[in-house]
This record gives sequence, C-alpha cells and structure tokens, in this order.
Amino acid sequence: MSAPSPSSETGARTVRVDLAGRPYDILIGAGLLSGIGAQIAALRPGARVAIVTDRNVAERHLATVETSLRAAGIGSVAVVVAPGEKTKSYAGLEQVVEGIISARIERRDLVLALGGGVVGDLAGFAASVVRRGVDVVQAPTTLLSQVDSSVGGKTGINSPQGKNLVGAFHQPVLVVADTAALDTLPAREVRSGYAEVAKYGLLGDAALFGWLEAKGREVISGGAARAEAVAASCMAKAAIVARDEKETGDRALLNLGHTFGHALEAGAGFSDRLLHGEAVSIGMCLAFAYSAHLGLCPGQDAVRAVRHLEAVGLPTRISQVPGDLPDTDGLMTLIAQDKKVSRGALTFILARGIGEAFIARDVDAASVRGFLADMRAA
Ligand code: GLY
Repeated sequence: MSAPSPSSETGARTVRVDLAGRPYDILIGAGLLSGIGAQIAALRPGARVAIVTDRNVAERHLATVETSLRAAGIGSVAVVVAPGEKTKSYAGLEQVVEGIISARIERRDLVLALGGGVVGDLAGFAASVVRRGVDVVQAPTTLLSQVDSSVGGKTGINSPQGKNLVGAFHQPVLVVADTAALDTLPAREVRSGYAEVAKYGLLGDAALFGWLEAKGREVISGGAARAEAVAASCMAKAAIVARDEKETGDRALLNLGHTFGHALEAGAGFSDRLLHGEAVSIGMCLAFAYSAHLGLCPGQDAVRAVRHLEAVGLPTRISQVPGDLPDTDGLMTLIAQDKKVSRGALTFILARGIGEAFIARDVDAASVRGFLADMRAA
C-alpha cells in the first residue's frame, strides 16, 4: 500500500495529480466543505462561483458551502438540478449551461460541482463548453465520486444511445473531498462506492488489497480508515491519470470489472436493481474468474477477490441481480456495444493475480460467451 499522504494544518490529506502544466490537489478530510471558501479564495482570488448541485445534496450541504464562500468574500449563484442519472442528459446540460451563463460566470471565474458522480460529470462538462472552457472545482459528496469520478477529468452526459457517449476531458483545478459528507449516505450507496476502492487494490496494489481485507468494514462504516482509503484510492488514480490522461494506455486498467459490469447494469436497465458499484463488484469477480479460467491467474486469487467483496456485503454473482436479465447472447450484445470495444475487438482488463491487472486486447468473443454461459448455469 502506498504511504499515506502528509496531513496539512487542517488535518486534511493532500494528494497531488501531477499533470504536466496543470497539476491539481485533491484535499481529503472531514468537514472540508465548511472551509471551501478559503480554499477557493486562495486558488483564484476575486473569482465568482456557480455552484452546480442537485436538490438532495443542496438540502444537506448548500448552505454550508454558500456560507463558507460568503465568509471568504466570494459571490456565488446556485444552479440546482433534479437528482438522478436522468439529469445527465441534453436537457440537464442545457439547464446547467444556461444557469452558468445567466450567473454571468466568466472565464476567470469557477464552476463548483457539489454532489455525486452525476453532478460532477454534468457540471464538469458544462464548464468545459461554457465560454469555451471555465475552470471547475469538484466537491464530491459520495464515496464513488470521491475515489473515482471527481478525479481525472472525465466529464459528460448520456446519449439516448448509451451512457457517457457525449463528453470531454476537463480536469478540475481542485478537488475537495469532505469525508464527513459520506456519513449521511445510505449504507448501500457507500458499499457500492467501496467496489471502486477495492478495484484499486485488485488492479495494481496487493498491499492495499490486504489492508482492505483487514479494514474494509471500517471503511464502509465510517471509521478512521475511511479517509485513509479515500486517500489511497485517489493516490492510485492520480498516478494512473498522470501517466495516461486520455486513456490511450494504462488508464484503461481503471475499467477492471466494468465491461462485464456495464453489461449487467445495462441489462438491469440502469436502475436501483443494480447500482454501478454493485455491477462493478460482480464484474471484477467475473474478470478474475475468467482470468483463472484462461489459466492466467491462480484460482485462489479469484476466490480471494470474491471472499472480500462478499465480506463487505457486495454482490459477487450474476444470480444476485434481482429480477430478469437478458440471456447470455443478450449480455454479449451489451458487451459488444460497450465503448471499451475497439473496432469490434473485445478488450478486457484481466489479471495475473491480486494487484496485477493488465489490458487484454482481441479477447475471443466465443470464449467469453462460453464462460458467461457456464457462470450463469453454475
Ligand atoms: N472511471 C474511470 C476513469 O476515470 O478512467
């Protein structure tokens, strides 16, 4: 496991994303939203801020953020959208873009994305197109957005033809991850986000995975280990993004579990039946099992992955998805539609063991189909 980042005077940990010419900090700690005004004033003196958030997050955190901005002498306007994935749409984008423009946000000003993955993706994308690009500060309020989507600059909306098909790389200038914001989230949502934490161990850091085996439940329940897990995840992601910002190589490792997972999520209609992290959890188990099936990975490592995800209460088998799913051919069609498919060839993230994921291009579709059919019959 990577060494924990140094604590600052505020008790926050700082992880730096070392992008050439555009480095930025991720601040991680409990209660950071109440000091966000001072952080922004130091970063961009004189800037005004458009806060983009959703109704649920606004109820919990908007007043804190507005008060903090006011105390730092920063003028702000809130653009409040409906919660949920449906808002990541052309209509949602129009609402946010028009809200930012009517707030008279100019290029030296800032957009502040306050919320989970939907708000971060939508506000980040809106910021990338308003006036050909306004800087964005990400203030993620879910575990999933703190450890994954707020870092690395992927922004976008869904097309009626698929998820995240319209978007841009737009790196934030600062990420403020207030771990106390996770205290009010439903346990299922925190567990779902935890799948992305476990992903960093499974894909590239066996020591982190070992630590999670010991501390995973504490991370989920909100003990002291939580901020450490968020920092470790952000360090892992920052390192990958710094060496491959636009996913021409190693960044694809972050898709571990996502090709199978995305097909299951789509098969369940992107509904509450299967949250994103739950789908990723099953997808990672399938990726390890498939790697073992191909003789690439020791079977005991595939079993270890399943045991840990089960131990923290995540689903690990297709049969745990409630309700009907498409048949195996239907799932294969969904896998083929995934944007991780390049010119028809299936690309999977497979593993040689815990912490040793690699990108496998030209994976044989018939072999995947046979494996999936066996898994469903088992
Ligand atoms: N969530 C995967 C990535 O940021 O590349």
